[in-house]
Amino acid sequence: MPFPVHRPRRLRQDLRSRRMLRETRLHPQQLILPLFVQEDLAAPQPIQAMPGHCQWPIEMIERPVREAMASGVGAFLLFGLPARKDSQGSAAHDPEGVVPRAVRRLRQICPDAWLITDVCLCAYTDHGHCGLLDPDGRVRNDETLPILAEMALAHVRAGADMVAPSDMMDGRIAALRRHLDAHGHTQTPIMAYAAKFASSLYGPFREAAHSAPQTGDRRGYQMDPANPREALLELQLDFEEGADVLMVKPGLAYLDIIAAARRRFPCPIAAYQVSGEYAMIKAAAEKGWLDERAAALETLLALHRAGADWLITYFAVEAARWLRDEP
Ligand code: PBG
Ligand code: ZN
Repeated sequence: MPFPVHRPRRLRQDLRSRRMLRETRLHPQQLILPLFVQEDLAAPQPIQAMPGHCQWPIEMIERPVREAMASGVGAFLLFGLPARKDSQGSAAHDPEGVVPRAVRRLRQICPDAWLITDVCLCAYTDHGHCGLLDPDGRVRNDETLPILAEMALAHVRAGADMVAPSDMMDGRIAALRRHLDAHGHTQTPIMAYAAKFASSLYGPFREAAHSAPQTGDRRGYQMDPANPREALLELQLDFEEGADVLMVKPGLAYLDIIAAARRRFPCPIAAYQVSGEYAMIKAAAEKGWLDERAAALETLLALHRAGADWLITYFAVEAARWLRDEP
């Protein structure tokens, strides 16, 4: 019966009707560009496994921000690389540390940029773990919380618009919220890396952020990729502790988690298309095996279609330009 009465191709044949049929659309204003800023660096340092991306000196951090804003990207996620690391990650909460200095500079030069800062210790500890270690090498949850809270406060005092804790300690959203509120920053939102999986796709980032764990791995605090129910628990806890935005990370391999988060929680959902996802597309495109533009836009669209309002992506600037001249 349906055929020949129903023919979905009738509306699909012509670009004019195809355009009107489009159920989901990407817009540059949804995109967030991650940036790496490094203390004591003389010149931008290209990141091998992430073509097109650099570690930036603090004194030049406005360059990539201006370029991105000219393309329509308005939001940035800042990662700091300190000059010195120690076992406690003390540079992480230094008000004169790399991220507060970069944020103060950007606040002056690019006042319209929306600045989000990553809050985590792994780039600041000499052992490369996201929290403090006890003598037998275990990550100490509760002892890490005040340090993260102090780090977030230093970023916000410097002018960060939002903080994004990525450490995966239990209770960190509540700890940050309490600490920010106690110092008068009740209006500063928190984006929680809520369902963050222990993924093989973070490799290029660890080169970019100098944040690889020196011993062991992160499976004691990041999630097992096999666990969708546990992801809902993580999302729920962060929501209840006061997260304003819930993030799922990585992106493409976790569309089911994004869709579940979208159904379950009324707040904005963010998806992080991580360094390995970027590197896969870039590498295949370099070999001529994939059309970079089409692959990047299709995967970003998929994240949005699954339910992500915001997309954190190393393709942000290129994607914004591509979207501008889409048919
Ligand atoms: C560190 C952090 C990581 C990423 C963001 N924050 C890496 C990790 O957990 O080892 C990954 C981002 C990417 O791969 O693009 N807390
Ligand atoms: Zn970390």
